[in-house]
Amino acid sequence: MIPRLAHIYILGAVLWTALPAFASEKPALRDLAAAKSKGIGAAVDVKALQNDPVYAQILTQQFNVLTPENALKMDWVQKKRGQFDFRAGDMLADLAQKNGMTFKGHTLVWFRALPEWLTEQTFTKEELKQIMHDHIKTVVTHYKGRVQNWDVVNEAINDDGSYRHCIWYDVIGPEYIELAFRWARAYDPNVLLYYNDYDAEVPNQKSDAIYLMLKDLKAKGVPIDGIGFQAHVRVQNPPNVFEMDKNLKRFAQLGLFTDFTEIDVSIIHDPNRNAIDLWMRQAEVFGNFFKACINNSSCTMAVLWGFTDKYTWKRDFDPSDAPLIFDAAYKPKPAFDVIAGVFNE
Ligand code: G3I
Repeated sequence: MIPRLAHIYILGAVLWTALPAFASEKPALRDLAAAKSKGIGAAVDVKALQNDPVYAQILTQQFNVLTPENALKMDWVQKKRGQFDFRAGDMLADLAQKNGMTFKGHTLVWFRALPEWLTEQTFTKEELKQIMHDHIKTVVTHYKGRVQNWDVVNEAINDDGSYRHCIWYDVIGPEYIELAFRWARAYDPNVLLYYNDYDAEVPNQKSDAIYLMLKDLKAKGVPIDGIGFQAHVRVQNPPNVFEMDKNLKRFAQLGLFTDFTEIDVSIIHDPNRNAIDLWMRQAEVFGNFFKACINNSSCTMAVLWGFTDKYTWKRDFDPSDAPLIFDAAYKPKPAFDVIAGVFNE
């Protein structure tokens, strides 16, 4: 008997070659996801949204979760100390609201995307705590009731499980993480608060350390609602599905939501980058994230880091990478059909 997934791939291959550039003839992914009570999201590039009408059309047609790729990061929002620029964030929040999409906030405290005024001076521990507090207070208050979940702390742990050295850790100490969550909760009692990281999709040194950290913080009463698994992966070595399921379940047992937050499946350095077989393998990897989300009630949404190969951060490293579900001409790739098939199972 041909396994069910194989049917989906074959169907995917046929549709991929037969369909025109737009996916509008197909059921929208957001409707299929909603039927399973799941969110399907995309990170949004503000420039693309403003300059490319097709981008906006597909975004709102296919996704029911929207998150800014960069527009809510500290270097964007607080380029000058104490002066906040919410124009792009507000535009995205309005777009999400108008189109019935969940608006996910990314991100409050991170070691990257910091403004120069912060990185080019030294601050005492008390000063830096004040800076972090004021940033969280202003941003969370501004989006209170409009952001449904925040990535509060992003990428705080190294691959070996140690804390990542960064301005927050080095000056404030590990308690910066706890403080960030407590302050976020103080300024919006209803928003869901997430810890977000990459390469933590399966049990390994990094996810083990995150697990212990979140367990410890939960035991101390720190308000953490969920973990975001970024899922920036490569088609050559995707996470093992059984290990991934095990990992989601252990975090869920801590009482956490377990979402996928930045999925892309890179084909970098693959000699067969134009072969249909590669697109099918990529589709399978995408499908596995969505299966894991459907099979675990702790997973509320799966968010892609973009949706078209035309705009992806991966192309800054390799212009021929193609890690998303629409190609650069907005033609749905096999991954689109496999995700739809997974929702229809
Ligand atoms: O803001 C300047 C702009 O003024 C200038 O015209 C332009 C020219 O290159 O650069 C702009 O800043 C860039 C910004 O993206 C907006 O395009 C930064 O140099 C660039 O470093 C930044 O990269 C982003 C990166 O995070 C750092 O913030 C990527 O687009 C974004 O995809 C990436 O996303 C991260 C997640 O937040 C966390 N997880 C990993 C993921 C991938 O690195």
